[in-house]
Amino acid sequence: MAELAVNVDHVATLREARQIHYPEPVAAAIAAETAGADAIVVHLREDRRHIKERDVRILRQVVQTRLILEMAATNEMLNIALDIKPDVVTLVPEKREEITTEGGLNIITHQGMAKEAVTTLKNAGIQTCIFIDPDLDQIKMAHKIDSDMIEIHTGAFCEAKTEPSRNHEFSRIVNAAKMGAKLKLGVNAGHGICYRSIQAFKGHNLIHEFSIGHSIVSRAILTGMEQAVRDMKKLIDEL
Ligand code: PXP
Repeated sequence: MAELAVNVDHVATLREARQIHYPEPVAAAIAAETAGADAIVVHLREDRRHIKERDVRILRQVVQTRLILEMAATNEMLNIALDIKPDVVTLVPEKREEITTEGGLNIITHQGMAKEAVTTLKNAGIQTCIFIDPDLDQIKMAHKIDSDMIEIHTGAFCEAKTEPSRNHEFSRIVNAAKMGAKLKLGVNAGHGICYRSIQAFKGHNLIHEFSIGHSIVSRAILTGMEQAVRDMKKLIDEL
């Protein structure tokens, strides 16, 4: 059965819209776990636009499941990860001007940097995951640099506007997941997944863990965090 990692970044986005002390992403994480989340995810961005170091430190103390830290492979972030010791680090590309993470990390062009980060993190007992596009050469490279896991970028599939492009993007994800499994990588998926798009994965049994944030936090505004997580967890359990 696939697992659900709940990203609480956008609880912090709402807090930072007023630059005050609520809503509290840590409270959202606790509620998510109560409702059955298998892991909690946060992205500590270079510009600290939503999640702050303080959030990651408190989460490290209170998260009972697994704490997944998304970050760029910079020296600053690696030092923070080595200090806080999340269970998993997911390496992502980062641009200051982007609204959200726009593409997977290109580990063919950034092979040296990615390999060094993976080695450093693994030596510290932190599992590694690389957020990559559903591209077979990228997946082979993730295996070559010895990452434990990959997270397949599902954004192009979730945002596809026509049936043929949706089908095309989904088949890229399926092929990428099969390649990952063949290479014995842990295969996760995420970005842009909502309560509708998750259903495309029914019957495929290729993804170990879905990483989902925006759609869950959006629903939580109307139904509460626990209900929003329960609803997604139920859809994943039924895949
Ligand atoms: N996975 C990664 C690597 C991401 O950067 C994000 C966005 O922060 C997500 C998953 C979750 O995406 P969404 O918020 O669209 O569910």
